[in-house]
Amino acid sequence: MLDITREEERMLSGDYGEWTARAMRLIIKLGELNAADRLVEISRVHLSGVSYKTVGDAAIELLRDMVSDGVKLKAYTTLNPAGMDFSRWKIMRVPEEFAMKQKEIVDLYQALGAKPTLTCAPYLYENKPDRGEIVAFAESSAVIYANSIIGARTNRHGSIDALAAAIAGRVPLMGLLLKENRFGNIVIDVNNEKFEQSDYGLLGLFLGDKLAPTDIPVFIFKHTPTIWDLRSLGAALAASGAIAMFHTVGITPEAKTMNEALGGGCPKEKIIVDMRDVRSVIDKYFSSIEEPDAVFIGCPHASLDEIRKIGKLLHGKRIKNNIDFWVFTSRTVFNLIRSDPIYDIIKRAGIKIFTDTCMVVTPIEEMGIRYVWTDGSKAAWYIPKFAERKIKVEVKSIKEIVNKVTE
Ligand code: F3S
Repeated sequence: MLDITREEERMLSGDYGEWTARAMRLIIKLGELNAADRLVEISRVHLSGVSYKTVGDAAIELLRDMVSDGVKLKAYTTLNPAGMDFSRWKIMRVPEEFAMKQKEIVDLYQALGAKPTLTCAPYLYENKPDRGEIVAFAESSAVIYANSIIGARTNRHGSIDALAAAIAGRVPLMGLLLKENRFGNIVIDVNNEKFEQSDYGLLGLFLGDKLAPTDIPVFIFKHTPTIWDLRSLGAALAASGAIAMFHTVGITPEAKTMNEALGGGCPKEKIIVDMRDVRSVIDKYFSSIEEPDAVFIGCPHASLDEIRKIGKLLHGKRIKNNIDFWVFTSRTVFNLIRSDPIYDIIKRAGIKIFTDTCMVVTPIEEMGIRYVWTDGSKAAWYIPKFAERKIKVEVKSIKEIVNKVTE
């Protein structure tokens, strides 16, 4: 039986309203199912379940009920991408009916007290936990980034239990919140010679097939990857393999040495990977596309560095007229890039930068897009699934994409 404090007893018994009591029941049940001893207070939550495409009318009804009952979120709460850019949804060719429903969802979340950040990379600016801080994140790529690259602690939440955590301001003390559950158990030795950033995403998809969701891989790389390489790796690992944490020896906070990453234990296995294994993913999962009608960059939402890199690759060339070249990012990054000299080059080339959304959660099948090139393996993994396989996708490096779609 899980121990709760007097204050938590009052929350559970309805002293703070029926929705707090419901949230507490869900959080306690989750804790009991995972043998937690107690709950722990949290100050930060990141919610998924924002795009009308993924949550539908049922979510609107639930949120309307909560708002009309006066629910207010206890934790500081940010929102994942919605199904459209709020100021440029017409340019994206998002249908009006979808747009109206999407606006209502975000308005309702805001009425509860959530911040309309609408990004899957809140850890860069808007909702940035410290090392060791316990949070409740519900976007899988943000979960793996927070655990592995920041060294914050979060379990992999779903949209409903993260919402309950935001209402109650508590989560069960279990899983990756506990130091003893954060040690690596499997070593991945990667010869990453000649890897582009997109290859790290493919590596994540390749390993997702081989690892159990509870595994915590410990990577050793021949050449030091960048933070953005590791972010691509994490997002893909979390997509195809439901992995919530990894270590990279010498880079990530809890892995100064192999011994520290493994907590002094022995790995159950060592997997050796090179470019051939990584490239095998392309034939296995993706289509070969002669010429795309759209290019999507920014999965996870593009950072300033990543957008600048696109600008530098352009060499003053323009995107071919028949191709939509779209970059997805947060409002914060977009505002920063607009005051950067590279923005003019990007704009003149015909590239559009959208905020608030991403290619996976837009109603893409209704926007006249059929053939997509992207450098993001997570997006490539989900687009065909979310678009009922009507859309074909191929992963390519940003360098190759820019070379082939400019003139
Ligand atoms: Fe973010 Fe969408 Fe990729 S939410 S991680 S850009 S699938």
